[in-house]
Amino acid sequence: MMNFNEQENEEERVLGRLRQPGDTEEKALRPVTFDEYSGQTKVKNNLKIFIDAAKKRGEALDHVLLYGPPGLGKTTLAGIIASEMGVAMHITTGPSIEKAGDLAALLTNLNENEVLFIDEIHRLNKSVEEVLYPAMEDYCLDLMIGKGPAARSVRLDLPHFTLVGATTRAGMLSAPLRDRFGMIHRLELYETEDLMEILKRDAGLLGIAINDEGLRNIASRSRGTPRIAIRLLKRMRDFASYLDKDIIDKEVSDYGLNALDIDGIGLDAVDRRLLTSIADIFKGGPVGLETLAACTGEDPVTIEDVYEPFLLQNGFLHKTPRGRMLTLRAFEHLGLTPPPSFIAGMKSTEVAPPRYENISIEDWQNSNKDGENG
Ligand SMILES: Nc1ncnc2c1ncn2[C@@H]1O[C@H](COP(=O)(O)OP(=O)(O)OP(=O)(O)O)[C@@H](O)[C@H]1O
Ligand SMILES: [Mg+2]
Repeated sequence: MMNFNEQENEEERVLGRLRQPGDTEEKALRPVTFDEYSGQTKVKNNLKIFIDAAKKRGEALDHVLLYGPPGLGKTTLAGIIASEMGVAMHITTGPSIEKAGDLAALLTNLNENEVLFIDEIHRLNKSVEEVLYPAMEDYCLDLMIGKGPAARSVRLDLPHFTLVGATTRAGMLSAPLRDRFGMIHRLELYETEDLMEILKRDAGLLGIAINDEGLRNIASRSRGTPRIAIRLLKRMRDFASYLDKDIIDKEVSDYGLNALDIDGIGLDAVDRRLLTSIADIFKGGPVGLETLAACTGEDPVTIEDVYEPFLLQNGFLHKTPRGRMLTLRAFEHLGLTPPPSFIAGMKSTEVAPPRYENISIEDWQNSNKDGENG
């Protein structure tokens, strides 16, 4: 989906949400219990209740879909679900299951109550997905044996298992698949306080000295994303040693964040370029996703998954039926004066609802009917 250039671009980006080669300690830092998993209180509380109930009944947990931007802790949460259930987790990804037979092999290898985690579940191919329906619903597999007129179908019973699916692209999931999940949890961008807690724990594990001001400085400029916060923490350790200091404090973190071109609220050069393009070329918008992508040389999927959630949540951008629009706040932040046409058009469209919050399945289905590209 991404071409080479964009991938490289994303890799260079300290504020990129996608996993990068330098994110090596990720596994070691990954929490394994709910207590170590900060933030996402609503999701956590609900999951705890369902897990306790399933354990009491000695049954498998209902199938869970986790969705939200990259780096917010979906894979981590899947692992916690399995460990809190006290069962093993089998990990695979949507695109790696090529044939129906691959999935059948995975499913028949599961034991009672175990977790099958399918990352990027929106990328399952259709024939594989169809095998998943009866497996999720009735814990059985319908297999065709033989070919031509002699072919017959046999039904194979499966152990009761829990499917945990993760996706950044909820809108790309087919309705029949989505409907077979007993719970759908949307992960939200993290508050600064939650990120500070995460960073404090990780700094401890990595043996990095950092004070409260340093923690706050990094946390508030990590676009609400633990993966980015952890990455910045490691970069700040390097700046501390460059400045010959043995602790990451306000001075070190200010210096480092400025050196990385990350501004006071956590926007980097790419974010500012996106916003500036909308301001300059489209007079504040509205502009469609594809057009914006073409004009900035970014991939539309990357814009939507990686850059936009933070810009939307922080009120720099909002979605209207005719496309993306800047807000007054964005013009102010860029130090630009909004054109008169923008001011005139603004009155009718002010205040977009926040995008990342927990919603009921019904609301979510309804919101998806409106089309993802707004
Ligand atoms: N709530 C949390 N508390 C503590 N650490 C967290 C939390 N969420 C994420 N992390 C840390 O952030 C890192 C990235 O999280 P994770 O890999 O689970 O994200 P993801 O949503 O699966 O991303 P992707 O969409 O790219 O697969 C983890 O290694 C973990 O250390
Ligand atoms: Mg993941």
